[in-house]
Amino acid sequence: MIRIVSPCLLAPYLFISALSAKTPVQAKHGMVVAQEPLAADAGLTVLKSGGNAIDAAIAVGFALAVTHPVAGNIGGGGFMLIRLADGRTAFLDFRECAPKKATRDMYIGSDGNPTRESIVGWRSSGVPGTIAGFETARQKYGSKRWANLVAPAIKLAREGFLVSDDFAASLRGPSNPLQLDPESRRIFLRNGRPYDAGETLKQPELASTLERIAANGAKEFYQGETARQLAAAMQANGGLITEADLRDYKTIERNPLNGDYKEFHVITSPPPSAGGVGLLQMMGMLEGTDYDSAGPDSPKAVHYEAEAMRRFYADRSEYLGDPDFYNVPVRQLLDKKYLNWRRGTIDATRATPSDIIGPGLPKSLDARVSWKESEETTHYNVVDEKGNAVAVTYTLNNSYGNGITAPGLGFLLNDEMDDFAAKPGAPNMFGMLGSDANAIEPGKRPLSSMMPTIITKNGRLFMVAGAPGGARITTGVTEVILDVLDFHMNAQDAVDLPRFHEQWKPDVLYLQDGFPKENQEALRKMGYEVKPTNAVARVEAIVVDNGILAGGTESRLHGKVSGY
Ligand code: GLY
Repeated sequence: MIRIVSPCLLAPYLFISALSAKTPVQAKHGMVVAQEPLAADAGLTVLKSGGNAIDAAIAVGFALAVTHPVAGNIGGGGFMLIRLADGRTAFLDFRECAPKKATRDMYIGSDGNPTRESIVGWRSSGVPGTIAGFETARQKYGSKRWANLVAPAIKLAREGFLVSDDFAASLRGPSNPLQLDPESRRIFLRNGRPYDAGETLKQPELASTLERIAANGAKEFYQGETARQLAAAMQANGGLITEADLRDYKTIERNPLNGDYKEFHVITSPPPSAGGVGLLQMMGMLEGTDYDSAGPDSPKAVHYEAEAMRRFYADRSEYLGDPDFYNVPVRQLLDKKYLNWRRGTIDATRATPSDIIGPGLPKSLDARVSWKESEETTHYNVVDEKGNAVAVTYTLNNSYGNGITAPGLGFLLNDEMDDFAAKPGAPNMFGMLGSDANAIEPGKRPLSSMMPTIITKNGRLFMVAGAPGGARITTGVTEVILDVLDFHMNAQDAVDLPRFHEQWKPDVLYLQDGFPKENQEALRKMGYEVKPTNAVARVEAIVVDNGILAGGTESRLHGKVSGY
């Protein structure tokens, strides 16, 4: 049974209003939680018409590419984690890969420092994987016809949909990359008159591309008219992706990462995701402490979690990358003896300076790190009546990717190449450091923080979770999972609780707006440099409690839990 945590049961440090127990949306048969309501409803319609969770996930993904172009996409990539009702699991890696012409130093300028070309312009895109991933998912695990799953997105693109407040605000964002590209400026910003809330946005070029994909399948995107047009536009604009890159792109089905935590079984994302390793490492370090004895967001809980985060991010910078190109030592990183030793280096009362955990902070670090969480990446969860569960995180990387719309094709391109380590020791957009493990090589997939995750208890589905949020995905998702597993919060309260983030370098503990003030002071006294932040990932969760699905999407945002 999930208990609603009652404020009066909690330690004195707790911030009462943050735990103002909200009831999550509940449903008996099926549920979709997504960051955009029209897309969530598209998935629910598929479930109600007899489609399974995989069918619904594909329909949601296509719909988000129309209604949530800030991150929903067909020009990017991501991960899909599936747990079928009979217990079988699958992980589809449809992450972008580096084009054949990519080189290790392609983003190093003449001064020896990283340029901005990994996030700006045509050279920042990796080969998109979304359409290949969705097609593999349908062929192997879906039940509906492909065209039926693309149809809701075609309708939304062709007939248009009402622009919401937050979409309108996002289009006006000062650092919006859409303004840098003539095709994006025309489609989304009407050449200087961005859509207001309540106006209808139609995307006829995208509708036509989706119609061809509906008729011809993924072959259209990778070998058809769409591939030809995209490769020609790349060539005309100095981009690297060729017809051969598109033709050779493949979804990779990997074994999900598995681990146990207390009475729970964790099924999560393997490399090239760093997130799953992070979740299991942090759980391994926390298990064996009584970090949860003083309640969620208490100084004690935050201290232990932050120290586990610090140690994981130090490992991430050195060991994690695409396992098809680098021998990623997953087994060693999750070894109990290793995690026991790591836990033993945590001082129960003081923050450990990051400099004594891993290699020293490079002088260049702070220059590119000025975190304002953008809306990059999106996540959604689906559970169907039979108990099949799907968690998908997919992305263009930055908000609206590199801001470039492929001319005549109507979809935005990713800037996923920035997730590689352009230069060992130099931080990427998220302040992440990397090494050879994540260096650029043709065909390689950049290290990701995305981590769709499914948790079972006694062999039964218990929780489905994931989030967008760049490098903070790992900490945000881990916190919400722990809030449910250890602090017995319901799905809605868990996603709403103010979060925190520590990523080893810089040596700062970020506390989300709304974090209890008195706890901040206590953490400062323990040696943390604390700084405020507007967000730590945007987590979405479904928790199954006594056969009832309970969904949580953050009250601070505009997602939707659709159930029946
Ligand atoms: N592009 C963000 C991530 O994959 O972590």
